Amino acid sequence: TPAATKPQLRVVIAAPRGFCAGVDRAIRIVELAIERYGAPVYVRHEIVHNKFVVDSLRAKGAVFVEELHEVPDGVPVIFSAHGVPKVVPAKAEARGLDYIDATCPLVSKVHRQAERFVDQGRHILFIGHARHPEVIGTFGQVDDGAMTLVETVEEAQTVQPPEGPLGLLTQTTLSVDDTRDILTTLQSRFPDLVGPKGEDICYATSNRQEAVKELAAKTQVVLVLGSPKSSNSLRLVEVAERGGSHGQLIQRAADVDWRWLRGVTSLGITAGASAPETLVQELIDALHERFELTIEEVRTASEDIVFKLPRALA
Ligand code: F3S
Repeated sequence: TPAATKPQLRVVIAAPRGFCAGVDRAIRIVELAIERYGAPVYVRHEIVHNKFVVDSLRAKGAVFVEELHEVPDGVPVIFSAHGVPKVVPAKAEARGLDYIDATCPLVSKVHRQAERFVDQGRHILFIGHARHPEVIGTFGQVDDGAMTLVETVEEAQTVQPPEGPLGLLTQTTLSVDDTRDILTTLQSRFPDLVGPKGEDICYATSNRQEAVKELAAKTQVVLVLGSPKSSNSLRLVEVAERGGSHGQLIQRAADVDWRWLRGVTSLGITAGASAPETLVQELIDALHERFELTIEEVRTASEDIVFKLPRALA
């Protein structure tokens, strides 16, 4: 029978994987807003960085735009989970638009800390990736020049912040290991640097990285479901590679180049914080067609965090 000729493949699935509480909340916000206001509901920027999520919300009546000026008067607009610069809600208010902020509460926490540092007269060093919407949003909480971006250890060695007290903040979806190195470098140069305990990397990011480290130790290839725009998904690929496995980012099963799995007997699977579980199942189904599978899960943490909805929708 054909089944007997299928090669054996041991699949190890990471847990936790996929949706975090902030993504779950942001998607709920769009769905509830469509129920509440009726379609169309506008969303500024992809609500979360996942094409599958965006397409399914679009089918329900969401319209995705990049900037506020693309939103017509009189329709509600939602701000994405990554957060927005302060000028965005201010402009929405000035136009009398109904807006709902789907910024992840863990990103909002960083925004408030940025304001607090400025109130204390501290210049802020911010560890993150240039041009990511979360970074643009966080920089947009304070005046121009109040915050300096540090992307690498090299930049941490050379950055020249203004004289005076400093505060440290980070993006929520960074590599835990890289951030530790950057932070150590900064602390050795600026011993009085005031920061959060550890850094602002969120629980979901660090849990997914820890789980993929385990996967990498057990498997030859790790497939990460996620978008190329998704910072936390890209970090999962890097962690898999550093752990000695071969990491590949895919948006869904159709992206798998089956040559990657030639001669491979152990495969890890995980998903970034914005990738829905259906995509993991779809991948497993596609693997089933080609391989004789044994499936196991490695769990390195349990998550039970749920964020409250904004008052307007609760
Ligand atoms: Fe929030 Fe972390 Fe998810 S910052 S959106 S819980 S990846």
